Amino acid sequence: MSKLHLTLFLFITTILTHHCVKDASAACHVDDESALLSFKSGITADPSGILSSWKKGTDCCSWPGINCRINNRVTELSLVGQPDQPKSFLSGTISPSLAKLRFLSGLYLQDLRNLTGPFPGLLFQLPNIDFVYIENNRLSGRVPENIGDLARLGALSLYGNRFTGTIPSSISKLTQLTQLKLGGNLFTGSFPTVIQNLKNLTLLYLDRNQFSGPLPEIFGSFPELRFLNLSHNKFSGKIPNSISTLYPKLTFLELNHNLFTGKIPDFLGKFKALDTLFLSHNKLSGTVPKTFVNLTKIFNLDLSHNNLTDPFPELKVKGIESLDLSYNNFHLKTIPKWVTTSPIIYSLKLAKCGIKMKLDDWKPSQTHFYDFIDLSENEISGSPIGLLNRTELLVGFWASGNKLKFDLEKLKIVKTLKYLDLSKNLVFGKVPKAVTGVGKLNLSHNHLCGAIPANKFPASVFLGNDCLCGAPLSPCKA
Ligand SMILES: *[C@@H]1O[C@H](CO)[C@@H](O)[C@H](O)[C@H]1NC(C)=O
Ligand SMILES: *[C@@H]1O[C@H](CO)[C@@H](O)[C@H](O)[C@H]1NC(C)=O
Ligand SMILES: *[C@@H]1O[C@H](CO)[C@@H](O)[C@H](O)[C@H]1NC(C)=O
Ligand SMILES: *[C@@H]1O[C@H](CO)[C@@H](O)[C@H](O)[C@H]1NC(C)=O
Ligand SMILES: *[C@@H]1O[C@H](CO)[C@@H](O)[C@H](O)[C@H]1NC(C)=O
Ligand SMILES: *[C@@H]1O[C@H](CO)[C@@H](O)[C@H](O)[C@H]1NC(C)=O
Ligand SMILES: *[C@@H]1O[C@H](CO)[C@@H](O)[C@H](O)[C@H]1NC(C)=O
Repeated sequence: MSKLHLTLFLFITTILTHHCVKDASAACHVDDESALLSFKSGITADPSGILSSWKKGTDCCSWPGINCRINNRVTELSLVGQPDQPKSFLSGTISPSLAKLRFLSGLYLQDLRNLTGPFPGLLFQLPNIDFVYIENNRLSGRVPENIGDLARLGALSLYGNRFTGTIPSSISKLTQLTQLKLGGNLFTGSFPTVIQNLKNLTLLYLDRNQFSGPLPEIFGSFPELRFLNLSHNKFSGKIPNSISTLYPKLTFLELNHNLFTGKIPDFLGKFKALDTLFLSHNKLSGTVPKTFVNLTKIFNLDLSHNNLTDPFPELKVKGIESLDLSYNNFHLKTIPKWVTTSPIIYSLKLAKCGIKMKLDDWKPSQTHFYDFIDLSENEISGSPIGLLNRTELLVGFWASGNKLKFDLEKLKIVKTLKYLDLSKNLVFGKVPKAVTGVGKLNLSHNHLCGAIPANKFPASVFLGNDCLCGAPLSPCKA
Protein backbone atom coordinates (compact mmCIF):
# COMPACT_ATOMS: atom_id res chain seq x y z
CA MET A 1 0.00 0.00 0.00
CA SER A 2 1.35 3.46 -0.90
CA LYS A 3 1.64 6.19 1.74
CA LEU A 4 -1.29 8.10 0.30
CA HIS A 5 -3.46 5.01 0.22
CA LEU A 6 -2.46 4.13 3.74
CA THR A 7 -3.34 7.61 5.01
CA LEU A 8 -6.70 7.53 3.23
CA PHE A 9 -7.33 4.05 4.52
CA LEU A 10 -6.62 5.07 8.12
CA PHE A 11 -8.76 8.18 7.72
CA ILE A 12 -11.69 6.27 6.31
CA THR A 13 -11.32 3.48 8.86
CA THR A 14 -11.37 6.04 11.64
CA ILE A 15 -14.57 7.79 10.53
CA LEU A 16 -16.29 4.58 9.65
CA THR A 17 -15.34 2.89 12.92
CA HIS A 18 -16.50 5.94 14.82
CA HIS A 19 -19.80 6.00 13.00
CA CYS A 20 -20.25 2.33 13.67
CA VAL A 21 -19.63 2.42 17.43
CA LYS A 22 -22.79 4.54 17.77
CA ASP A 23 -24.87 1.78 16.27
CA ALA A 24 -23.49 -1.50 17.57
CA SER A 25 -26.50 -3.51 16.39
CA ALA A 26 -25.55 -2.90 12.75
CA ALA A 27 -22.54 -5.17 13.13
CA CYS A 28 -22.96 -6.72 9.74
CA HIS A 29 -24.22 -4.78 6.77
CA VAL A 30 -27.50 -6.16 5.41
CA ASP A 31 -26.10 -6.34 1.87
CA ASP A 32 -23.13 -8.36 3.07
CA GLU A 33 -25.30 -10.69 5.11
CA SER A 34 -27.68 -11.36 2.24
CA ALA A 35 -24.77 -11.83 -0.22
CA LEU A 36 -23.16 -14.41 2.05
CA LEU A 37 -26.43 -16.22 2.78
CA SER A 38 -27.08 -16.44 -0.97
CA PHE A 39 -23.58 -17.86 -1.38
CA LYS A 40 -24.43 -20.43 1.28
CA SER A 41 -27.65 -21.39 -0.49
CA GLY A 42 -25.64 -22.06 -3.66
CA ILE A 43 -23.78 -24.77 -1.71
CA THR A 44 -25.49 -28.13 -2.06
CA ALA A 45 -23.26 -30.17 0.25
CA ASP A 46 -21.08 -29.16 3.20
CA PRO A 47 -20.46 -32.42 5.05
CA SER A 48 -17.90 -31.01 7.50
CA GLY A 49 -20.02 -27.97 8.36
CA ILE A 50 -17.68 -25.29 7.03
CA LEU A 51 -20.66 -22.89 6.76
CA SER A 52 -22.77 -24.28 9.62
CA SER A 53 -22.53 -21.16 11.78
CA TRP A 54 -23.45 -18.79 8.95
CA LYS A 55 -26.93 -17.91 10.25
CA LYS A 56 -29.25 -15.03 9.47
CA GLY A 57 -29.43 -12.44 12.23
CA THR A 58 -26.00 -13.23 13.69
CA ASP A 59 -23.07 -10.89 13.05
CA CYS A 60 -21.68 -12.01 9.68
CA CYS A 61 -18.35 -10.38 10.53
CA SER A 62 -17.87 -13.06 13.18
CA TRP A 63 -18.65 -15.98 10.85
CA PRO A 64 -15.76 -18.36 10.15
CA GLY A 65 -13.98 -17.32 6.96
CA ILE A 66 -15.18 -13.70 7.09
CA ASN A 67 -13.09 -10.64 7.82
CA CYS A 68 -14.48 -7.13 8.09
CA ARG A 69 -11.57 -4.74 8.11
CA ILE A 70 -13.36 -1.55 7.08
CA ASN A 71 -16.39 -0.32 9.04
CA ASN A 72 -17.80 -3.78 9.56
CA ARG A 73 -18.01 -4.32 5.83
CA VAL A 74 -16.86 -7.71 4.55
CA THR A 75 -13.40 -7.28 3.07
CA GLU A 76 -12.28 -10.89 2.97
CA LEU A 77 -14.00 -14.19 2.24
CA SER A 78 -11.64 -17.05 2.97
CA LEU A 79 -12.85 -20.66 2.96
CA VAL A 80 -10.12 -23.26 3.00
CA GLY A 81 -10.72 -27.02 3.00
CA GLN A 82 -8.41 -29.48 4.70
CA PRO A 83 -6.91 -31.74 2.03
CA ASP A 84 -6.27 -34.61 4.49
CA GLN A 85 -9.90 -34.73 5.66
CA PRO A 86 -12.17 -36.55 3.19
CA LYS A 87 -15.32 -34.71 4.34
CA SER A 88 -13.78 -31.27 4.18
CA PHE A 89 -15.30 -30.09 0.89
CA LEU A 90 -18.10 -27.94 -0.54
CA SER A 91 -20.29 -28.91 -3.49
CA GLY A 92 -22.18 -26.33 -5.51
CA THR A 93 -21.45 -23.14 -7.38
CA ILE A 94 -20.16 -19.67 -6.47
CA SER A 95 -23.26 -17.48 -6.20
CA PRO A 96 -23.24 -14.28 -8.32
CA SER A 97 -24.70 -12.58 -5.24
CA LEU A 98 -21.13 -12.15 -3.96
CA ALA A 99 -21.11 -9.09 -6.25
CA LYS A 100 -22.94 -7.33 -3.41
CA LEU A 101 -19.83 -7.49 -1.23
CA ARG A 102 -18.83 -3.94 -2.29
CA PHE A 103 -15.80 -3.81 -0.02
CA LEU A 104 -14.43 -7.28 -0.78
CA SER A 105 -10.71 -7.15 -1.47
CA GLY A 106 -9.72 -10.78 -0.97
CA LEU A 107 -11.56 -13.87 -2.22
CA TYR A 108 -9.98 -17.14 -1.11
CA LEU A 109 -11.82 -20.37 -1.99
CA GLN A 110 -9.11 -22.97 -1.58
CA ASP A 111 -9.06 -26.78 -1.46
CA LEU A 112 -12.86 -26.97 -1.38
CA ARG A 113 -12.55 -29.62 -4.10
CA ASN A 114 -16.13 -29.73 -5.40
CA LEU A 115 -17.06 -26.14 -6.27
CA THR A 116 -18.15 -26.19 -9.92
CA GLY A 117 -19.33 -23.74 -12.55
CA PRO A 118 -17.58 -21.22 -14.80
CA PHE A 119 -15.11 -18.45 -13.99
CA PRO A 120 -16.99 -16.25 -11.47
CA GLY A 121 -18.02 -13.21 -13.54
CA LEU A 122 -19.06 -11.44 -10.35
CA LEU A 123 -15.39 -10.54 -9.87
CA PHE A 124 -15.84 -7.86 -12.56
CA GLN A 125 -18.45 -6.15 -10.38
CA LEU A 126 -16.27 -5.92 -7.27
CA PRO A 127 -14.66 -2.47 -7.30
CA ASN A 128 -12.13 -3.30 -4.57
CA ILE A 129 -10.97 -6.81 -5.41
CA ASP A 130 -7.20 -7.23 -5.06
CA PHE A 131 -6.52 -10.90 -4.32
CA VAL A 132 -8.25 -13.91 -5.90
CA TYR A 133 -7.26 -17.44 -4.97
CA ILE A 134 -9.74 -20.00 -6.33
CA GLU A 135 -7.61 -23.10 -5.95
CA ASN A 136 -8.17 -26.82 -6.07
CA ASN A 137 -11.84 -26.82 -7.00
CA ARG A 138 -13.60 -28.00 -10.15
CA LEU A 139 -14.38 -24.78 -11.98
CA SER A 140 -14.36 -25.14 -15.74
CA GLY A 141 -14.81 -23.38 -19.06
CA ARG A 142 -12.67 -20.61 -20.48
CA VAL A 143 -11.13 -17.64 -18.75
CA PRO A 144 -13.09 -14.58 -19.99
CA GLU A 145 -11.46 -12.53 -22.78
CA ASN A 146 -11.81 -9.38 -20.66
CA ILE A 147 -9.86 -10.79 -17.68
CA GLY A 148 -7.63 -7.71 -18.13
CA ASP A 149 -10.46 -5.58 -16.73
CA LEU A 150 -9.50 -6.83 -13.26
CA ALA A 151 -6.58 -4.43 -13.54
CA ARG A 152 -6.11 -3.81 -9.83
CA LEU A 153 -5.47 -7.48 -9.00
CA GLY A 154 -2.27 -8.08 -7.06
CA ALA A 155 -2.61 -11.85 -7.17
CA LEU A 156 -4.62 -14.24 -9.31
CA SER A 157 -4.73 -17.96 -8.73
CA LEU A 158 -6.97 -20.36 -10.61
CA TYR A 159 -4.66 -23.22 -9.63
CA GLY A 160 -6.03 -26.76 -9.73
CA ASN A 161 -9.33 -26.36 -11.58
CA ARG A 162 -10.52 -27.54 -14.99
CA PHE A 163 -10.22 -24.38 -17.04
CA THR A 164 -9.68 -24.90 -20.76
CA GLY A 165 -8.65 -22.92 -23.82
CA THR A 166 -5.85 -20.43 -24.21
CA ILE A 167 -4.86 -17.58 -21.90
CA PRO A 168 -6.63 -14.38 -23.11
CA SER A 169 -4.21 -11.73 -24.30
CA SER A 170 -5.85 -9.06 -22.15
CA ILE A 171 -4.09 -10.70 -19.19
CA SER A 172 -1.25 -8.36 -20.18
CA LYS A 173 -3.23 -5.56 -18.48
CA LEU A 174 -2.93 -7.12 -15.02
CA THR A 175 0.28 -5.21 -14.43
CA GLN A 176 -0.09 -5.10 -10.64
CA LEU A 177 0.12 -8.89 -10.37
CA THR A 178 2.88 -10.25 -8.19
CA GLN A 179 1.55 -13.81 -8.30
CA LEU A 180 -0.02 -15.62 -11.24
CA LYS A 181 -0.93 -19.25 -10.64
CA LEU A 182 -2.67 -21.00 -13.52
CA GLY A 183 -1.19 -24.46 -12.88
CA GLY A 184 -3.19 -27.68 -12.71
CA ASN A 185 -5.77 -26.85 -15.39
CA LEU A 186 -6.37 -27.90 -18.99
CA PHE A 187 -4.96 -24.82 -20.70
CA THR A 188 -3.59 -25.25 -24.21
CA GLY A 189 -1.66 -23.20 -26.73
CA SER A 190 1.79 -21.74 -26.62
CA PHE A 191 3.42 -19.92 -23.73
CA PRO A 192 1.37 -16.72 -23.15
CA THR A 193 4.04 -14.28 -24.34
CA VAL A 194 1.88 -11.26 -23.42
CA ILE A 195 2.62 -11.83 -19.75
CA GLN A 196 5.94 -10.10 -20.39
CA ASN A 197 4.02 -6.97 -19.37
CA LEU A 198 3.62 -8.30 -15.84
CA LYS A 199 6.89 -6.87 -14.61
CA ASN A 200 6.09 -7.22 -10.92
CA LEU A 201 5.66 -10.99 -10.94
CA THR A 202 7.49 -12.77 -8.15
CA LEU A 203 5.74 -16.07 -8.81
CA LEU A 204 4.62 -17.65 -12.08
CA TYR A 205 3.05 -21.13 -12.10
CA LEU A 206 1.83 -22.60 -15.38
CA ASP A 207 2.60 -26.22 -14.36
CA ARG A 208 0.42 -29.25 -15.14
CA ASN A 209 -1.34 -27.92 -18.24
CA GLN A 210 -1.08 -28.72 -21.93
CA PHE A 211 0.98 -25.78 -23.06
CA SER A 212 3.32 -26.58 -25.93
CA GLY A 213 5.99 -25.17 -28.19
CA PRO A 214 9.18 -23.29 -27.36
CA LEU A 215 9.54 -20.74 -24.58
CA PRO A 216 9.92 -17.15 -25.83
CA GLU A 217 12.99 -15.14 -24.79
CA ILE A 218 11.02 -12.87 -22.46
CA PHE A 219 12.38 -13.74 -19.04
CA GLY A 220 14.30 -10.47 -18.94
CA SER A 221 10.88 -8.88 -18.24
CA PHE A 222 10.61 -10.28 -14.71
CA PRO A 223 13.23 -8.64 -12.50
CA GLU A 224 11.43 -9.78 -9.34
CA LEU A 225 10.72 -13.40 -10.27
CA ARG A 226 11.57 -15.92 -7.54
CA PHE A 227 9.37 -18.92 -8.32
CA LEU A 228 9.02 -20.27 -11.85
CA ASN A 229 7.12 -23.52 -12.34
CA LEU A 230 6.45 -24.63 -15.93
CA SER A 231 6.61 -28.36 -15.16
CA HIS A 232 4.32 -31.05 -16.64
CA ASN A 233 3.55 -29.43 -20.00
CA LYS A 234 4.76 -30.04 -23.53
CA PHE A 235 7.18 -27.16 -23.82
CA SER A 236 9.98 -27.91 -26.26
CA GLY A 237 13.17 -26.43 -27.66
CA LYS A 238 16.08 -25.13 -25.66
CA ILE A 239 16.02 -23.66 -22.18
CA PRO A 240 15.90 -19.91 -23.05
CA ASN A 241 19.00 -17.77 -22.52
CA SER A 242 16.90 -15.00 -21.01
CA ILE A 243 16.37 -17.17 -17.90
CA SER A 244 19.93 -16.09 -17.07
CA THR A 245 18.56 -12.58 -16.35
CA LEU A 246 16.61 -13.98 -13.38
CA TYR A 247 19.87 -14.12 -11.43
CA PRO A 248 20.22 -13.58 -8.49
CA LYS A 249 16.59 -13.64 -7.27
CA LEU A 250 15.31 -16.88 -8.73
CA THR A 251 15.09 -19.58 -6.05
CA PHE A 252 12.74 -22.21 -7.56
CA LEU A 253 13.10 -23.32 -11.18
CA GLU A 254 10.91 -26.26 -12.20
CA LEU A 255 11.00 -27.18 -15.89
CA ASN A 256 10.61 -30.94 -15.36
CA HIS A 257 8.28 -33.20 -17.39
CA ASN A 258 8.46 -31.30 -20.69
CA LEU A 259 10.20 -31.90 -24.02
CA PHE A 260 13.20 -29.61 -23.61
CA THR A 261 16.24 -30.52 -25.70
CA GLY A 262 19.83 -29.37 -25.94
CA LYS A 263 22.34 -28.84 -23.16
CA ILE A 264 21.77 -27.65 -19.62
CA PRO A 265 22.91 -24.01 -19.96
CA ASP A 266 26.14 -22.98 -18.20
CA PHE A 267 24.49 -19.91 -16.71
CA LEU A 268 22.39 -22.01 -14.30
CA GLY A 269 25.57 -22.59 -12.29
CA LYS A 270 25.65 -18.84 -11.59
CA PHE A 271 22.41 -18.98 -9.60
CA LYS A 272 24.05 -19.08 -6.20
CA ALA A 273 20.75 -18.63 -4.36
CA LEU A 274 18.93 -21.38 -6.24
CA ASP A 275 17.15 -23.66 -3.79
CA THR A 276 15.36 -26.01 -6.17
CA LEU A 277 16.24 -27.02 -9.71
CA PHE A 278 14.05 -29.62 -11.40
CA LEU A 279 14.90 -30.52 -15.01
CA SER A 280 13.89 -34.19 -14.91
CA HIS A 281 11.90 -36.00 -17.62
CA ASN A 282 13.07 -33.93 -20.57
CA LYS A 283 15.37 -34.75 -23.45
CA LEU A 284 18.41 -32.86 -22.25
CA SER A 285 21.78 -34.18 -23.38
CA GLY A 286 25.48 -33.46 -23.04
CA THR A 287 27.34 -32.95 -19.79
CA VAL A 288 26.18 -31.15 -16.67
CA PRO A 289 27.95 -27.74 -16.76
CA LYS A 290 31.14 -27.41 -14.68
CA THR A 291 29.62 -24.19 -13.31
CA PHE A 292 27.35 -26.36 -11.15
CA VAL A 293 30.19 -26.62 -8.61
CA ASN A 294 29.09 -23.10 -7.62
CA LEU A 295 25.51 -24.12 -6.73
CA THR A 296 26.51 -24.09 -3.09
CA LYS A 297 22.99 -23.50 -1.73
CA ILE A 298 21.06 -26.00 -3.80
CA PHE A 299 18.74 -28.13 -1.64
CA ASN A 300 16.74 -30.00 -4.25
CA LEU A 301 18.25 -31.13 -7.53
CA ASP A 302 16.46 -33.45 -9.94
CA LEU A 303 18.04 -34.14 -13.32
CA SER A 304 16.62 -37.66 -13.69
CA HIS A 305 15.26 -39.17 -16.92
CA ASN A 306 17.31 -37.21 -19.44
CA ASN A 307 20.26 -38.26 -21.57
CA LEU A 308 23.04 -36.54 -19.63
CA THR A 309 26.58 -37.88 -19.76
CA ASP A 310 29.77 -37.97 -17.64
CA PRO A 311 31.61 -36.39 -15.97
CA PHE A 312 29.35 -35.13 -13.18
CA PRO A 313 30.90 -32.09 -11.43
CA GLU A 314 31.97 -32.39 -7.78
CA LEU A 315 29.47 -30.00 -6.14
CA LYS A 316 30.56 -27.80 -3.24
CA VAL A 317 27.10 -27.79 -1.67
CA LYS A 318 27.13 -27.97 2.14
CA GLY A 319 23.92 -29.91 2.53
CA ILE A 320 21.79 -31.29 -0.25
CA GLU A 321 18.31 -32.38 0.88
CA SER A 322 17.10 -34.30 -2.13
CA LEU A 323 18.95 -35.50 -5.20
CA ASP A 324 17.79 -37.49 -8.20
CA LEU A 325 20.19 -38.27 -11.04
CA SER A 326 18.52 -41.54 -12.06
CA TYR A 327 18.18 -42.83 -15.62
CA ASN A 328 20.75 -40.80 -17.52
CA ASN A 329 24.02 -41.91 -19.03
CA PHE A 330 26.11 -41.40 -15.90
CA HIS A 331 28.85 -43.72 -14.66
CA LEU A 332 29.40 -42.30 -11.20
CA LYS A 333 31.20 -45.44 -9.88
CA THR A 334 30.56 -44.39 -6.27
CA ILE A 335 28.03 -42.30 -4.39
CA PRO A 336 29.45 -38.72 -4.62
CA LYS A 337 31.24 -37.38 -1.54
CA TRP A 338 29.07 -34.24 -1.37
CA VAL A 339 26.06 -36.55 -0.97
CA THR A 340 27.72 -38.79 1.62
CA THR A 341 28.66 -35.81 3.80
CA SER A 342 25.29 -34.02 3.67
CA PRO A 343 23.94 -33.59 7.20
CA ILE A 344 20.33 -33.05 6.03
CA ILE A 345 19.70 -35.36 3.10
CA TYR A 346 16.36 -37.18 3.13
CA SER A 347 15.96 -38.38 -0.45
CA LEU A 348 18.66 -39.96 -2.59
CA LYS A 349 17.82 -41.44 -5.97
CA LEU A 350 20.70 -42.75 -8.05
CA ALA A 351 19.06 -45.49 -10.12
CA LYS A 352 21.08 -46.63 -13.14
CA CYS A 353 23.94 -44.26 -12.41
CA GLY A 354 26.78 -46.73 -13.03
CA ILE A 355 27.63 -47.16 -9.35
CA LYS A 356 29.99 -50.09 -8.70
CA MET A 357 30.66 -50.29 -4.99
CA LYS A 358 30.19 -52.39 -1.90
CA LEU A 359 27.30 -50.87 0.04
CA ASP A 360 29.00 -51.68 3.37
CA ASP A 361 31.80 -49.26 2.34
CA TRP A 362 29.40 -46.33 2.10
CA LYS A 363 29.64 -44.30 5.33
CA PRO A 364 27.07 -41.49 5.14
CA SER A 365 27.46 -38.74 7.79
CA GLN A 366 23.78 -38.97 8.59
CA THR A 367 21.13 -41.61 7.93
CA HIS A 368 18.35 -40.74 10.37
CA PHE A 369 16.49 -38.28 8.13
CA TYR A 370 16.33 -40.63 5.14
CA ASP A 371 12.83 -41.11 3.70
CA PHE A 372 13.80 -42.43 0.26
CA ILE A 373 16.80 -44.29 -1.09
CA ASP A 374 16.77 -45.59 -4.67
CA LEU A 375 19.90 -47.38 -5.86
CA SER A 376 18.19 -49.63 -8.44
CA GLU A 377 20.02 -50.96 -11.48
CA ASN A 378 23.60 -50.38 -10.46
CA GLU A 379 26.38 -52.85 -9.67
CA ILE A 380 26.23 -52.53 -5.92
CA SER A 381 27.38 -55.51 -3.89
CA GLY A 382 27.50 -56.25 -0.17
CA SER A 383 24.63 -55.67 2.22
CA PRO A 384 22.18 -52.88 3.15
CA ILE A 385 21.76 -54.29 6.70
CA GLY A 386 24.10 -51.74 8.31
CA LEU A 387 22.52 -48.85 6.39
CA LEU A 388 18.90 -49.72 7.12
CA ASN A 389 19.83 -50.43 10.74
CA ARG A 390 20.70 -46.73 11.03
CA THR A 391 17.45 -45.35 9.57
CA GLU A 392 14.32 -44.54 11.55
CA LEU A 393 11.99 -42.78 9.12
CA LEU A 394 12.66 -44.67 5.91
CA VAL A 395 9.60 -44.84 3.62
CA GLY A 396 11.09 -46.37 0.48
CA PHE A 397 14.14 -48.48 -0.30
CA TRP A 398 14.61 -49.55 -3.90
CA ALA A 399 17.65 -51.60 -4.86
CA SER A 400 16.40 -53.86 -7.65
CA GLY A 401 18.96 -55.14 -10.16
CA ASN A 402 22.16 -55.09 -8.09
CA LYS A 403 24.40 -57.74 -6.51
CA LEU A 404 23.29 -57.37 -2.91
CA LYS A 405 23.98 -60.54 -0.95
CA PHE A 406 22.63 -60.76 2.60
CA ASP A 407 20.32 -62.67 4.93
CA LEU A 408 16.88 -61.04 4.64
CA GLU A 409 16.03 -62.05 8.21
CA LYS A 410 18.71 -59.66 9.50
CA LEU A 411 17.31 -56.59 7.72
CA LYS A 412 15.75 -53.99 10.04
CA ILE A 413 12.30 -53.00 8.78
CA VAL A 414 11.25 -49.68 10.29
CA LYS A 415 7.54 -49.12 10.90
CA THR A 416 7.44 -46.27 8.39
CA LEU A 417 8.61 -48.45 5.46
CA LYS A 418 6.04 -48.56 2.64
CA TYR A 419 8.11 -49.59 -0.39
CA LEU A 420 10.76 -52.29 -0.49
CA ASP A 421 12.15 -53.52 -3.79
CA LEU A 422 15.05 -55.98 -3.57
CA SER A 423 14.22 -57.88 -6.76
CA LYS A 424 17.03 -59.22 -8.97
CA ASN A 425 19.75 -59.50 -6.32
CA LEU A 426 21.41 -62.35 -4.41
CA VAL A 427 19.34 -62.10 -1.22
CA PHE A 428 19.13 -65.36 0.79
CA GLY A 429 17.46 -66.69 3.93
CA LYS A 430 13.76 -66.77 4.79
CA VAL A 431 11.07 -64.13 4.32
CA PRO A 432 10.49 -62.63 7.78
CA LYS A 433 7.00 -61.60 8.93
CA ALA A 434 8.03 -57.90 9.22
CA VAL A 435 8.83 -57.71 5.50
CA THR A 436 5.28 -58.64 4.52
CA GLY A 437 3.97 -55.60 6.45
CA VAL A 438 5.14 -53.07 3.83
CA GLY A 439 2.70 -51.62 1.30
CA LYS A 440 4.59 -52.47 -1.88
CA LEU A 441 7.10 -55.30 -1.92
CA ASN A 442 9.23 -57.04 -4.50
CA LEU A 443 11.53 -59.92 -3.59
CA SER A 444 11.47 -61.69 -6.96
CA HIS A 445 14.61 -63.19 -8.52
CA ASN A 446 16.76 -63.80 -5.43
CA HIS A 447 17.83 -66.92 -3.48
CA LEU A 448 15.18 -66.93 -0.78
CA CYS A 449 13.85 -70.19 0.63
CA GLY A 450 11.25 -71.56 3.05
CA ALA A 451 7.62 -70.84 3.91
CA ILE A 452 6.29 -67.34 3.12
CA PRO A 453 4.39 -65.78 6.07
CA ALA A 454 0.72 -64.83 5.53
CA ASN A 455 0.62 -61.89 3.10
CA LYS A 456 -1.50 -59.88 0.66
CA PHE A 457 0.89 -59.90 -2.31
CA PRO A 458 0.59 -61.42 -5.81
CA ALA A 459 2.88 -64.33 -6.75
CA SER A 460 5.00 -62.08 -9.01
CA VAL A 461 6.74 -60.46 -6.04
CA PHE A 462 8.11 -63.85 -4.87
CA LEU A 463 8.83 -65.52 -8.24
CA GLY A 464 12.28 -66.65 -9.29
CA ASN A 465 13.64 -67.61 -5.87
CA ASP A 466 15.33 -70.88 -4.85
CA CYS A 467 12.73 -72.63 -2.74
CA LEU A 468 10.00 -70.31 -1.46
CA CYS A 469 6.66 -71.97 -0.76
CA GLY A 470 3.20 -71.21 0.57
CA ALA A 471 0.58 -68.69 -0.63
CA PRO A 472 0.62 -67.00 -3.09
CA LEU A 473 3.11 -69.65 -4.41
CA SER A 474 2.41 -73.38 -4.27
CA PRO A 475 1.89 -74.94 -0.83
CA CYS A 476 4.93 -76.11 1.15
CA LYS A 477 5.48 -79.88 1.17
CA ALA A 478 4.77 -81.28 4.62
C1 LIG B 1 -19.69 -32.83 -6.39
O1 LIG B 1 -20.57 -31.97 -7.08
C2 LIG B 1 -21.33 -32.61 -8.09
C3 LIG B 1 -22.08 -31.54 -8.85
O2 LIG B 1 -22.57 -30.56 -7.99
C4 LIG B 1 -22.24 -33.65 -7.45
O3 LIG B 1 -22.98 -34.34 -8.44
C5 LIG B 1 -21.38 -34.64 -6.68
O4 LIG B 1 -22.20 -35.55 -5.97
C6 LIG B 1 -20.49 -33.92 -5.69
N1 LIG B 1 -19.57 -34.85 -5.07
C7 LIG B 1 -19.58 -35.10 -3.78
C8 LIG B 1 -18.54 -36.05 -3.27
O5 LIG B 1 -20.37 -34.58 -3.03
C1 LIG C 1 5.17 -2.73 -9.37
O1 LIG C 1 4.95 -2.50 -7.99
C2 LIG C 1 5.25 -1.18 -7.57
C3 LIG C 1 5.02 -1.12 -6.07
O2 LIG C 1 5.30 -2.31 -5.46
C4 LIG C 1 4.38 -0.21 -8.28
O3 LIG C 1 4.72 1.10 -7.90
C5 LIG C 1 4.55 -0.37 -9.76
O4 LIG C 1 3.64 0.43 -10.43
C6 LIG C 1 4.35 -1.80 -10.18
N1 LIG C 1 4.72 -1.97 -11.55
C7 LIG C 1 3.86 -2.18 -12.49
C8 LIG C 1 4.39 -2.43 -13.87
O5 LIG C 1 2.68 -2.27 -12.23
C1 LIG D 1 5.42 -27.12 -9.43
O1 LIG D 1 4.47 -27.92 -10.11
C2 LIG D 1 4.45 -29.27 -9.76
C3 LIG D 1 3.48 -29.98 -10.69
O2 LIG D 1 2.21 -29.46 -10.60
C4 LIG D 1 4.07 -29.40 -8.30
O3 LIG D 1 4.07 -30.77 -7.91
C5 LIG D 1 5.07 -28.62 -7.46
O4 LIG D 1 4.70 -28.67 -6.10
C6 LIG D 1 5.15 -27.18 -7.93
N1 LIG D 1 6.20 -26.49 -7.19
C7 LIG D 1 5.97 -25.59 -6.26
C8 LIG D 1 7.17 -24.95 -5.62
O5 LIG D 1 4.85 -25.28 -5.91
C1 LIG E 1 32.60 -20.27 -9.45
O1 LIG E 1 32.48 -18.95 -8.97
C2 LIG E 1 33.70 -18.25 -8.86
C3 LIG E 1 33.45 -16.95 -8.17
O2 LIG E 1 32.35 -16.29 -8.71
C4 LIG E 1 34.32 -18.09 -10.24
O3 LIG E 1 35.55 -17.42 -10.17
C5 LIG E 1 34.54 -19.48 -10.84
O4 LIG E 1 35.00 -19.37 -12.17
C6 LIG E 1 33.24 -20.27 -10.83
N1 LIG E 1 33.53 -21.65 -11.22
C7 LIG E 1 33.04 -22.21 -12.31
C8 LIG E 1 33.47 -23.61 -12.62
O5 LIG E 1 32.27 -21.61 -13.05
C1 LIG F 1 21.86 -40.25 -25.70
O1 LIG F 1 23.10 -39.69 -26.02
C2 LIG F 1 23.97 -40.56 -26.73
C3 LIG F 1 25.27 -39.82 -26.98
O2 LIG F 1 25.77 -39.29 -25.81
C4 LIG F 1 23.35 -40.98 -28.04
O3 LIG F 1 24.17 -41.92 -28.67
C5 LIG F 1 21.98 -41.62 -27.76
O4 LIG F 1 21.33 -41.87 -28.98
C6 LIG F 1 21.12 -40.67 -26.93
N1 LIG F 1 19.89 -41.37 -26.58
C7 LIG F 1 18.69 -40.82 -26.70
C8 LIG F 1 17.53 -41.65 -26.28
O5 LIG F 1 18.54 -39.69 -27.13
C1 LIG G 1 21.87 -52.58 14.59
O1 LIG G 1 21.74 -51.60 15.62
C2 LIG G 1 21.77 -52.12 16.93
C3 LIG G 1 21.61 -50.97 17.91
O2 LIG G 1 20.68 -50.03 17.44
C4 LIG G 1 23.08 -52.85 17.18
O3 LIG G 1 23.02 -53.44 18.45
C5 LIG G 1 23.28 -53.91 16.11
O4 LIG G 1 24.56 -54.49 16.28
C6 LIG G 1 23.18 -53.31 14.74
N1 LIG G 1 23.30 -54.39 13.75
C7 LIG G 1 24.02 -54.27 12.66
C8 LIG G 1 24.03 -55.46 11.78
O5 LIG G 1 24.64 -53.25 12.38
C1 LIG H 1 9.11 -57.24 -9.39
O1 LIG H 1 10.41 -57.14 -9.93
C2 LIG H 1 10.55 -57.78 -11.20
C3 LIG H 1 12.01 -57.73 -11.55
O2 LIG H 1 12.59 -56.49 -11.23
C4 LIG H 1 9.66 -57.04 -12.19
O3 LIG H 1 9.78 -57.61 -13.46
C5 LIG H 1 8.22 -57.13 -11.71
O4 LIG H 1 7.40 -56.36 -12.58
C6 LIG H 1 8.09 -56.59 -10.31
N1 LIG H 1 6.74 -56.87 -9.83
C7 LIG H 1 6.00 -56.00 -9.12
C8 LIG H 1 4.66 -56.41 -8.70
O5 LIG H 1 6.44 -54.88 -8.84
